[in-house]
Amino acid sequence: LLGLLLENSLFRNLGVPGEILEILFKWVDDVEDYPKIPKAKGGIKAIRSEAFFLPLYELYLTHGGIFRLTFGPKSFLIVSDPSIAKHILRDNSKSYSKGLLAEILEFVMGKGLIPADGEIWRIRRRAIVPALHQKYVAAMVSLFAQATDRLCQKLDDAATDQEDVEMELLFSHLTLDIIGKALFNYDFDSLRNDTGIVEAVYTVLREAEDRSVSPIPTWEIPIWKDISPRQRKVAEALKLINDVLDDLIAICKRMVEEEELQFHDEYMNEQDPSILRFLLASGDDVSSKQLRDDLMTMLIAGHETSAAVLTWTFYLLSKEPSVVSKLQDEVDSVLGDRFPTINDMKKLKYTTRVINESLRLYPQPPVLIRRSLEDDVLGKYPIKRGEDIFISVWNLHHSPSLWQDAEKFNPERWPLDGPNPNETNQNFCYLPFGGGPRKCVGDMFASFETVVAVAMLVQRFNFQMALGAPPVEMTTGATIHTTEGLKMTVTRRIKPPIIPELDMQRLKMEASAKIS
Ligand code: HEM
Repeated sequence: LLGLLLENSLFRNLGVPGEILEILFKWVDDVEDYPKIPKAKGGIKAIRSEAFFLPLYELYLTHGGIFRLTFGPKSFLIVSDPSIAKHILRDNSKSYSKGLLAEILEFVMGKGLIPADGEIWRIRRRAIVPALHQKYVAAMVSLFAQATDRLCQKLDDAATDQEDVEMELLFSHLTLDIIGKALFNYDFDSLRNDTGIVEAVYTVLREAEDRSVSPIPTWEIPIWKDISPRQRKVAEALKLINDVLDDLIAICKRMVEEEELQFHDEYMNEQDPSILRFLLASGDDVSSKQLRDDLMTMLIAGHETSAAVLTWTFYLLSKEPSVVSKLQDEVDSVLGDRFPTINDMKKLKYTTRVINESLRLYPQPPVLIRRSLEDDVLGKYPIKRGEDIFISVWNLHHSPSLWQDAEKFNPERWPLDGPNPNETNQNFCYLPFGGGPRKCVGDMFASFETVVAVAMLVQRFNFQMALGAPPVEMTTGATIHTTEGLKMTVTRRIKPPIIPELDMQRLKMEASAKIS
């Protein structure tokens, strides 16, 4: 405190330049007697090569739940301690912004809900959360089932032709088709068609992911921006998506004006149950640019995350046939041959546990990013305003001190009759959807989406890693991807034929007559 007062008065009263003060007070800091955050050094290679959260895990085992990682002049705080994570995300969330993340994603999400901070975030969150009401999510379950059914038809063809399939790509198409309909009632139909708009979405997504792991922001160099073919392609893709979104917003506005249905809390238009329709019908007083930013944000947030969860779930299942058997038993007894409905969601308990456990082992995204807006104390360590912080959800979820057999894929660790695990009942050791005021708005949507997809796929098919498939390794963008895809062989399940009750009685009588 004394240091801070002195610093202020030197700056204000004597006009001593900031740089000199920094050197002076670094020295004061060094001699002051308060606990210092352990320091680790990183090479730039560590963030470029392999999945960057893996070296962070090694450093966590050496340095503990909070340490400082320095790359030349840059430094980050890496947090892997549940109580510090809780402090940043929930208890003192007002003192933290999205920092680097907002800077990186600005080009595509603008002031959308994920990067936005302060007043804009507060207003947009308040407008968007009600759109994901219960009736909407229930309607979405049948959308998930129809989209997954289209994927099943594709897999059925592959099974007939005895062709292997690349599941990571198919899951990405599945979740894009779902989120397009769910957000703005737009059919990307990417499972069947490869249109310009689908390619544009992927160009923008890949760029966002590359920027999140790139150590040098080449895209900010003024001339480079205009001459680099890649950056020009990104700009064209963004323009195409923005034009499509602007058209969809304009069409939807007209429909809402013509509609007679009164707006209420659980408003939903049966033909167009989308979030966009809800927002416009609610009279949401927002500019088209802000609306576009929010839709784009949710398109990205709700697409790659769910696709990654499905990819890693099927990878994990491919190594645990006993889990698959239990899963299929549950799905057969709850669903039989029919599509899932909202009422089945609470009955598909084991399927839900499989997703819970997959999200523990492969959290999407593996790190959460924040910047301190004021001085604070993390654990026993004072920190300054302006610190860039990575909360490693990967480390929390893999910590040998927080989990028994942390590396084991064990859905049974979550009792079927227990509560659905979340950040609150797991005391911030488990953060599949973040926590505090910035928690995911699509958590229920995403849970049901992945449960429906897994249930319907194992209901109809058996999956195995394809013969000669490349090893499945991790790489990162915003979510965890495989390095070379998830190549699988799909076969139709052979289930015992369902014999109607009457025939069954006749068969039994015939059999007993034969015996006697
Ligand atoms: C935020 C995970 C699906 C929309 C988040 C956060 C996480 C997360 C961890 C917190 C980020 C942070 O604190 O920095 C996931 C996972 C999903 C998923 C694992 C799929 C399995 C979705 C879907 C939507 C969505 C389907 C939209 C319908 C959002 C939004 C935010 C967010 C808008 C920002 C909320 C805010 O800052 O107020 N998500 N998400 N997510 N998610 Fe999701």
